[in-house]
Amino acid sequence: MSELRIGIAGLGVVGAETAKQIITAQTMLCKRAGADLKIVAVSARDKEKDRGFSLQNIIFYTDPLKLLEHDDIDLIVELIGGEQGIALSLVEGALNAGKHVVTANKAMIAHHGFSLAALAEVNNVSLQFEAAVAGGIPAIKILREGLAGNAIQTVVGILNGTCNYILSEMTSSKSAFQDVLKEAQSKGFAEADPSFDIDGIDAAHKLAILSAIAFGQKIPFSSLAITGIRQVSDVDISYAGELGYCLKLLGIAHRDKAAEVSMALIPADEQLASVNGSLNAVSYSGTPVQSCVCIGPGAGAGPTSSAVLADIIDVASGLANFAYGIPVEFLAEQKIEHHKSSQQSYYLRLSVTDKPGVLSEISAILKDHDLSVASMIQNGQSEDGPVFLVFTTHKCAKAEIEAAVQIMQKSEHVLDTPMVIPIFDTCSFG
Ligand SMILES: NC(=O)c1ccc[n+]([C@@H]2O[C@H](COP(=O)([O-])OP(=O)(O)OC[C@H]3O[C@@H](n4cnc5c(N)ncnc54)[C@H](OP(=O)(O)O)[C@@H]3O)[C@@H](O)[C@H]2O)c1
Repeated sequence: MSELRIGIAGLGVVGAETAKQIITAQTMLCKRAGADLKIVAVSARDKEKDRGFSLQNIIFYTDPLKLLEHDDIDLIVELIGGEQGIALSLVEGALNAGKHVVTANKAMIAHHGFSLAALAEVNNVSLQFEAAVAGGIPAIKILREGLAGNAIQTVVGILNGTCNYILSEMTSSKSAFQDVLKEAQSKGFAEADPSFDIDGIDAAHKLAILSAIAFGQKIPFSSLAITGIRQVSDVDISYAGELGYCLKLLGIAHRDKAAEVSMALIPADEQLASVNGSLNAVSYSGTPVQSCVCIGPGAGAGPTSSAVLADIIDVASGLANFAYGIPVEFLAEQKIEHHKSSQQSYYLRLSVTDKPGVLSEISAILKDHDLSVASMIQNGQSEDGPVFLVFTTHKCAKAEIEAAVQIMQKSEHVLDTPMVIPIFDTCSFG
């Protein structure tokens, strides 16, 4: 059996589990890889920390770049993280030195993936990043291999487990965002600084990677429209339920349209609506497959290392594909057809003073912007406090509802920033 000699940089949640699996499940993994998988050296900041496996016969470095000095390392597994800095230097150095790279680093790939993939091709080595998207769901392999014969039109995903956990908990326990966020942090489902997750950045990294592979296009990260769940209120979740919808944070990418990460209302009986807790899901629509939905754990030591191991086996067995499924030179420049900008329905919630004439003022603004109302809820009566007005619209251009909301905000009767959320009546999103 040939040997694949591995250097692992980063022994945290994902790195330690990956190393442990290579050591404890070695016989099975080596048979599948058709090669002897051998960890030559590892790197982390703290040599004394217990990593849950023995470092005997493995060289330890606090400087990950030392791994590059090893002529006897064929594959660098980068599990440090960060868009640039030491992780990027290591990966660039490894590819330039003719070493294969496996990484879970979605931030780095979303921002530098195309140049790194080109570097891998020039040096005739592989760059693989299955673990960067949706953890235990083989989301990239499904696209590059199982769906390779399809023209994919749409990728829609629940791509951030933290946000999905928060929204699911808010729905089931009718609790406020801040309370559920605190609980998620105490249970380890959210970071101490949750910004990357709750502001939609993490989901956007994954969507940018997936959509580039799906459409064979260079999707620049900067082209994504990103909103997170920071503004979500339990009031909206409750109205969504009353209207027959479920509120999710979705990554949505259509071929030739700008991709976005946004909260969305989807019918409560759609498959994605039942994906709860920290689970992720990815839905692909294309020809000839029609639609294909994959659900699974999106993060954590086990699911993420599962994806890293699959990439290591592909590298060892020579099955590793081009990073984006095709050579980088064949990726098209992103083409956004503006005439294709979405026409869709919207949920609009206003907090207004309970005074005569307010409803007719709001209705007039909607009419002035050609916004036709599909349904309306006016709940509660209050002498001195606000009441909520909730509308759903028929399909309209995003610019129209945004313009209407700007005018509404100037009214003395509108007390808070209106909440606008797109509605998708089918999860095929065609
Ligand atoms: N955690 C997940 O569920 C998950 C899911 C999908 C993708 N990912 C991605 O996987 C990667 C790793 O994530 P993680 O959660 O495993 O991170 P983590 O637990 O924070 O581990 C990071 C590791 O990198 C080491 N490290 C950090 N800076 C270093 C430096 N300057 N020099 C040497 N070592 C350094 C740390 O060393 P010490 O241990 O000594 O501090 C630690 O072992 C990231 O790109 C992340 O986005 C993670």
